[in-house]
Amino acid sequence: IRSLTIADLYAKYHAKEPISMVTAYDFITANWAQSAGCDVVLVGDSLATCALGYDSTNQIGLEEFRYHVQAVCRAPGPAFVLVDMPFGSFESSIQQGIETAIAFMKSSARVGGVKIEVGSPVGQGESQKQDYSLQLAAELCSRGIPVMGHVGLTPQRAHFLSGFKVQGSKSAKDAAAIYHTAQQLQDIGCFSVLLECVPHKVSSYITQRLSVPTIGIGAGLGVNGQVLVQSDILGMTPHAVPKLAHKYGDLNSESIGLIKRYANDVSEQKFPDNNKNGFKIKDDIWAEFL
Ligand code: KIV
Ligand code: NA
Repeated sequence: IRSLTIADLYAKYHAKEPISMVTAYDFITANWAQSAGCDVVLVGDSLATCALGYDSTNQIGLEEFRYHVQAVCRAPGPAFVLVDMPFGSFESSIQQGIETAIAFMKSSARVGGVKIEVGSPVGQGESQKQDYSLQLAAELCSRGIPVMGHVGLTPQRAHFLSGFKVQGSKSAKDAAAIYHTAQQLQDIGCFSVLLECVPHKVSSYITQRLSVPTIGIGAGLGVNGQVLVQSDILGMTPHAVPKLAHKYGDLNSESIGLIKRYANDVSEQKFPDNNKNGFKIKDDIWAEFL
């Protein structure tokens, strides 16, 4: 099966059909996302907390991340595969960032692009400095590496932002900063902009003014597509899911229930069944063995 291209995603965007995107962390979750027909599969750095048990997404290493990218890419299906640039894999220098993006693009032929978290300009007045990630995004685009710019709540910068909070709601200046960063991302060549935890009025305003598709998470309906974390949708963990997500099922309790049934069957010697699950030896061979 041929993978969706950026042109295919743009065709949906121009037809005003919402783009569906979901995270995947390994071969199994990628198969589910592909079989469900999602347009984009994101190997998000939420992998670190949702599937690997880290306290923060910032703790995952590049090689560890790449191992999961390759597993996700082994799942067949038509989705466009997008890869997050994890914390620490691009901040040291533009060169480091380019090398990381190249490593991801080379890790499988199926990787279609990368996603980078981008902040708003920092500092005041004259000394205001453009966000570093914006420069990096521009360098990647100019090298033919497709980039989705991620703005609003950027979890890798949680300390800088004093926590995981809605962005662009405190002041008109904050909302304007997100809009301008989104506009700049489009101008430098990003194929799409992701808006996380932004008031829906702000994300609709931005969406109406951009000419590239916006993907939202906690950004309301007025965007061109939605993304959610697969473990939230499926209820894979006992934790409550964030307000921006919707839990469509409870795979956690379902899985525990099924494993309990198995463990009980083992305790009560109901599993295995020698006829159903076992293997036979011919009577003459058995007699000779004895
Ligand atoms: O890492 C992730 O899962 C993400 C999405 C939630 C946007 O970046
Ligand atoms: Na992420």
